[in-house]
Parts: sequence; structure tokens; C-alpha cells
Amino acid sequence: MHSPLPDGPVRSLEIDDLPACQRLAEARDWGREDRKWRFLFSVGDVYGIDDRNGELAGTVVSTPYGKDVAAISMVLVAERHERRGLGSRLMRHAMEDAGTAGFCLTATDYGRPLYERLGFRSVGLCTSYQGEVENLVRQGVSVPAGASDMASVHALDTQVFGADRAQLIDGLPTFCETLRVVRDGPEIRGFGGFWRNDDQVVVGPVIAQDTETALALVADIVPPGPVRLDIDHRHPELITWAESHGLRPSFTTTVMEHGAPLTGDPSRLYLPVAQALG
Ligand SMILES: CC(C)(COP(=O)(O)OP(=O)(O)OC[C@H]1O[C@@H](n2cnc3c(N)ncnc32)[C@H](O)[C@@H]1OP(=O)(O)O)[C@@H](O)C(=O)NCCC(=O)NCCS
Repeated sequence: MHSPLPDGPVRSLEIDDLPACQRLAEARDWGREDRKWRFLFSVGDVYGIDDRNGELAGTVVSTPYGKDVAAISMVLVAERHERRGLGSRLMRHAMEDAGTAGFCLTATDYGRPLYERLGFRSVGLCTSYQGEVENLVRQGVSVPAGASDMASVHALDTQVFGADRAQLIDGLPTFCETLRVVRDGPEIRGFGGFWRNDDQVVVGPVIAQDTETALALVADIVPPGPVRLDIDHRHPELITWAESHGLRPSFTTTVMEHGAPLTGDPSRLYLPVAQALG
């Protein structure tokens, strides 16, 4: 028996709505992901639909990078309201509001048919490798990123991602527990970091000029204990690295895009900041 369908508008959520977002996420067997939600509230636009019981019936986040592309994430609908159009309504609202030429996201099997109906196309797969890293040999090629490195980090990120993610890059030194760069004269050859999602370390972003630098950065930044690397299948060398260091595949999502293709160079985007942000 269905509960009455929420009939209110899609509204912009504020940080005060975070506990309700987390209750919805936990009810769908997602984690609380406090750090990630807070970062998304600071760099993105969070939307929701109120349920009649004072809870949220659904959420979606769009993080626009200028007018080029917006990363869509946290598409969640309360189980009691599933398959009644709320997910599609939230998505259409977020996409119209962002008004960007394109959109990107990674889809669970639950979400993929919904996105396909909205015109998203699959462009690849991303597998989350998890476990404790074994046989680690630190490469010592990187140094902690200083304030003076951030202009180079921004420049390399824009070149590789294909859109200006200035606000996201500005937030990285706070969001990431570790952020390191491989310097090359006045420029950098790459940057990488990790952040903590609940009790798990997520390694990313890693963006580098070449695979050797990327792998050396990963080896420099992974801390002891359980880690997670979300690896795009475009990077078999990273999959080999993960497997040979004791990590195991946990789950796979589909990488999807909508509208204008990104003009960057995904071959140099080794690990995303987060699946939610690209
Ligand atoms: C994925 C998710 C957001 C979908 O939300 P939703 O509100 O059920 O989405 P919609 O109702 O718009 O669409 C879902 C399906 O219901 C169908 N539908 C929509 N309105 C309907 C109606 N009135 N009657 C019958 N079916 C309907 C749609 O056609 C769609 O079918 P399809 O998936 O076979 O193409 C929700 O299942 C969810 O939160 N899942 C867990 C978290 C998750 O995996 N999120 C996706 C992250 S990428």
C-alpha cells in the first residue's frame, strides 16, 4: 500500500537539512557520509522534496562546473515512494536549474534505467577496489601541496577534466586529509589526495601527466588501514596496481554523460575526487 505522494515543490536544501538527507540515505543502505555531504553542500546545489511526515521523500545534488558540465549525485528516493516519478522529477529539476551544456554521473544499477530515459549515455564502467594495501613501497616523488601549488593544480585539473572546477579545487586542501603534488620546475606533473568517508579512506583525486607519476602518487598517498579506490576501467594499469597490492573489487557503477561531451583528457584523470564529483 503506497503512502500519499508528496505534492510539494522541489526545493533547495540548506545545511540544516543534512540530518534529514542522512536519514534518507541510511534508509537506502547508504552511509551517513558526513564529510561528503558537507562538501557537496559547500560546492554544489542540493535539492529535495519534503514528505508529508516531515522527512525528505527524495534528494539530488548537482555540482555545476561553470556552464560546461554539472556532476549529478545523491539521487535518492524513499522506498515508500519508489517508481512514482519522483526520481525523474528531481533529476529534471536539477538539470534545468544547472543549465549546463552537459552532465556527468556514475549510476548504480537502480539508477541507470532512469538516467537512460532522460537521455544519458553510458561511456564506461567504474569499479570500487577496497581492502588494506599490502606490499607498499613509497616512491617519495611527491611533496605536500602548498598554497603556491594550487594555481598549477587548478590549471592541470582544468586541462584534464575539461571544465573549470575552481571552487572544487579551492576546497580540496580542506576536504582532503592529504593532498600532495609532484613538482616539475615551476609546474606540477600531478596531484593526488585522499579523504575520509565515514570510517573508510577514499583515495582521490589523482590527476597526472602520465601513468608512472599517477602510480607513484598513489603509492605516496595511501595511508595504512582500509582504503577504497574508484577505478575507471580506462585505467587497467591502476586495476593491476590495486590487485597486486591486495585490493579486491567491491562494486561497479556505470559512468554516464548527457549532452555535450567533455573536452578534457580522461586518460590523465586516474582517480576522481569522488564518484559524486568526477
Ligand atoms: C534510483 C531511484 C532514485 C529511482 O527513484 P524513483 O523515484 O523510483 O524513479 P522514477 O519513479 O522516476 O523512475 C523509476 C521507474 O519507475 C517508473 N515510473 C515512474 N512513474 C511511474 C508510475 N506512476 N507508475 C509506474 N511506474 C512509474 C519509471 O518509468 C521508471 O522505470 P524504469 O526504471 O524501468 O525505467 C531510487 O530507486 C533509489 O533511491 N534507489 C536507491 C539509491 C540509488 O541507487 N540511487 C541511484 C544512484 S545513481
